[in-house]
Amino acid sequence: MKQISQRFSVTYHYAAYFTENLFSIENSLLANTIFSENLPAKCLFVVDSGVAEAWPQLTQAIRQHTNAHADKMHLTAILTTEGGENAKNNQQALHHILEAIHTYGICRHSYLIAIGGGAVLDMAGYAAAIAHRGVRHIRIPTTVLAQNDSGVGVKNSFNAFGKKNFLGTFQPPVAVINDSKFLETLSQRDWLSGISEAIKVALIKDATFFEQIEKDANALTARDSHAMQALIYRCAELHMEHIAQNGDPFERGSARPLDFGHWAAHKLESMSNYRIRHGEAVAIGIALDCLYTFYEGYLNAADLNRVIMLIKQLSLPLAIPELFRQTSANHYDVMSGIDEFREHLGGKLTITLIRSIGEGFEVHQINEASMQKAIDWLKQQSSEVLQNQP
Ligand SMILES: NC(=O)c1ccc[n+]([C@@H]2O[C@H](COP(=O)([O-])OP(=O)(O)OC[C@H]3O[C@@H](n4cnc5c(N)ncnc54)[C@H](O)[C@@H]3O)[C@@H](O)[C@H]2O)c1
Ligand SMILES: [Zn+2]
Repeated sequence: MKQISQRFSVTYHYAAYFTENLFSIENSLLANTIFSENLPAKCLFVVDSGVAEAWPQLTQAIRQHTNAHADKMHLTAILTTEGGENAKNNQQALHHILEAIHTYGICRHSYLIAIGGGAVLDMAGYAAAIAHRGVRHIRIPTTVLAQNDSGVGVKNSFNAFGKKNFLGTFQPPVAVINDSKFLETLSQRDWLSGISEAIKVALIKDATFFEQIEKDANALTARDSHAMQALIYRCAELHMEHIAQNGDPFERGSARPLDFGHWAAHKLESMSNYRIRHGEAVAIGIALDCLYTFYEGYLNAADLNRVIMLIKQLSLPLAIPELFRQTSANHYDVMSGIDEFREHLGGKLTITLIRSIGEGFEVHQINEASMQKAIDWLKQQSSEVLQNQP
């Protein structure tokens, strides 16, 4: 037998920057992230339609900004693409971006700069990752969820066959630039829904952060930008630390602790035909898994109560009617989300739960009776828990 063995590793390095008024002429942060042997580098901008509508002067600002930094950036085009989850379902929109990469001669030393919510960033990042096997990509997240979680990570994706994130790659960005100004035009719904990811990561990793969110809950709902900036920073930091330090940035193993509360969340998003936001679905998934771990005898009643109270206080949903859908007696449809979650990850079923606030742990099977009890509890309270449903 003959064999030629290979072993190499690739080091990635990127930063998430926090700024305000990124496209003002004086702000050179974006230009400073551009490096190439052949400057100015070609830049193709992709803008979320929700952002373009809320910031009608943005296109002009990008033009002036790239003109002012013409030594670094050569603007090829600014595309607008539909915002929201449909960005990840729309094959034509994906094709349009790939076509622009082709038309404008965007190469591996050029930049695709995406500005938008998590959905547009996932989809534009996917286009950048597959064109030429990887075009440089800068993310400019414009929602709370994208600034504190989805935009600072290494994944991009596109939905297919009715399955969320069925297509996608692990491809770290060149840089992430969070501009707090963009958050001013978010609907209250999008302002609040991203907080779920902060609750999630606090529950599995950082009890002090959870306490801080409890303290800031009223300020957050009142749109206090100082409280929100602190939340986004810590949440992004915990996510980035996890990716770099947990030893599995590209999720080769079976565990995915950052997906606490997500097996139900992903299922409910698709069961609701994406009527609910990802962050809203995560709030429900967290409530459900906390009830489950309480019934399984891990989480105590006081901690469970704190989680439920916080979700309520932030006007996030605890349930939607789809959670209670049953096609056969004693079986809630949402439960098939457990197997779909395993299938997406591959390997052994691994679900992260919490033992107490700030302490995550993993299980490899779910006791269906306890999960039914958790859903039953929410159903019994449905007149109350459905109040905040989107
Ligand atoms: N890649 C990852 O690791 C990862 C992690 C978590 C979530 N996600 C994905 O992120 C997506 C959810 O992202 P999201 O919560 O940001 O929602 P979203 O991208 O669906 O955006 C919500 C709405 O806000 C609009 N919008 C965006 N920025 C705005 C602004 N500044 N002002 C006004 N309107 C604005 C959008 O047009 C859209 O209508 C989901 O598809 C989810 O699967 C990805
Ligand atoms: Zn999430």
